[in-house]
Amino acid sequence: MGNLCLGKPVELASASSSIPSKVVLKSNDSSDFNSSSNGSSVSTLSSHQSTSHPIPIAALKAFTLNDLKAATKNFRSDSYLGEGGFGCVYKGWIDENTHAPTKPGVGIVVAIKKLKQESIQGHKEWLAEVTYLGQFHHENLVKLIGYCSEADKKLLVYEYMPRGSLENHLFKRGVQPISWATRVNVAIDVARGLSFLHSLEPPVIYRDLKASNVLLVSDFTAKLSDFGLARNGPTGDKTHVSTRIVGTRGYAAPEYIATGHLTVKSDVYSFGVVLLELMSGKRSLDEDRGGMEEALVDWAKPFLGNQRKMVRIMDTRLEGQYVKKAAQTLASVAEECLHADPKSRPSMAEVLAAIEELQAPRNTPRSSKGTPSHSLQRYKP
Ligand SMILES: Nc1ncnc2c1ncn2[C@@H]1O[C@H](COP(=O)(O)OP(=O)(O)OP(=O)(O)O)[C@@H](O)[C@H]1O
Ligand SMILES: [Mg+2]
Repeated sequence: MGNLCLGKPVELASASSSIPSKVVLKSNDSSDFNSSSNGSSVSTLSSHQSTSHPIPIAALKAFTLNDLKAATKNFRSDSYLGEGGFGCVYKGWIDENTHAPTKPGVGIVVAIKKLKQESIQGHKEWLAEVTYLGQFHHENLVKLIGYCSEADKKLLVYEYMPRGSLENHLFKRGVQPISWATRVNVAIDVARGLSFLHSLEPPVIYRDLKASNVLLVSDFTAKLSDFGLARNGPTGDKTHVSTRIVGTRGYAAPEYIATGHLTVKSDVYSFGVVLLELMSGKRSLDEDRGGMEEALVDWAKPFLGNQRKMVRIMDTRLEGQYVKKAAQTLASVAEECLHADPKSRPSMAEVLAAIEELQAPRNTPRSSKGTPSHSLQRYKP
């Protein structure tokens, strides 16, 4: 049986598309390697690579293509999970210990991402993903189990994230809206993932934070996926790295789009956008606001600093079931993250410290309905 992978275009999405997708935001610099602000050139991945071997990660399982065909019933349509710029994603089954392919229902479920044949950029993204996710382990980063590299066939095998992406839970029609408590917890989880990456030496800039790259497990713990655009941040006294400008419209920081100068503060800006999406239930770019495409940031900014007006940005599907004080905290954090001057934005560690105490117990109901706001207890983890 055939599969559904139709090869969704990755780059230069139509300006009228209401679904944000990964684009080359400007391509005046064709190099995808970091060059530091003092002009010296370093390989994008070198500092976090343990050896010069293209696949340095011993802990990862090297799958054969036949293994992954067997695990997905030959990438059959009923195994299909979704599609992104990199390619299609399928659900598969492998043995928990040996990682050998098994029958559906036996062993553990995995998500298998298959690189589209025609994607040249995809090969770099595949290597970045293997290199970064293969060595970083954190509860808020999706676990990479293994990879397959056979000639031009490149695949990635991840832990399966049963609740799919945050994008689906916030924006998909017909999906029950997630509760306020879940939204706050997702924000904290994402902040934890980013803080971890930024705390590394050299720091890792994620560069592709967006609702579709935040995946959820059963209790709605959120994890960052997709490290294809991740880059090492500046080291020593360098202020930024310069790279080809890639990212997703509506999420990328304005100074990065304008100059190509990438810093950890680019991620902080994108975090501010995701915070707005969590609060408003609106996409970062949407044609429906004001009749023409308008950025959520431009629409929401005037309300953020004003406690009375702030209510206007809140998702009406929450039906008022949110903790006002927590919403105010998130609004003021979002405002700081979205500061036009990257130097004035807080670090992710500061963001985390500001929002961590808002954390609610896990397993709160998905729907806001029937969840009185006073029942959203707080505790310090
Ligand atoms: N580990 C996973 N577990 C479960 N579902 C997944 C997993 N990884 C991806 N998916 C699903 O597959 C779909 C495609 O994901 P993918 O990351 O390829 O694209 P995207 O995030 O929508 O776009 P982009 O290519 O810009 O990142 C998404 O809808 C996501 O829900
Ligand atoms: Mg993705």
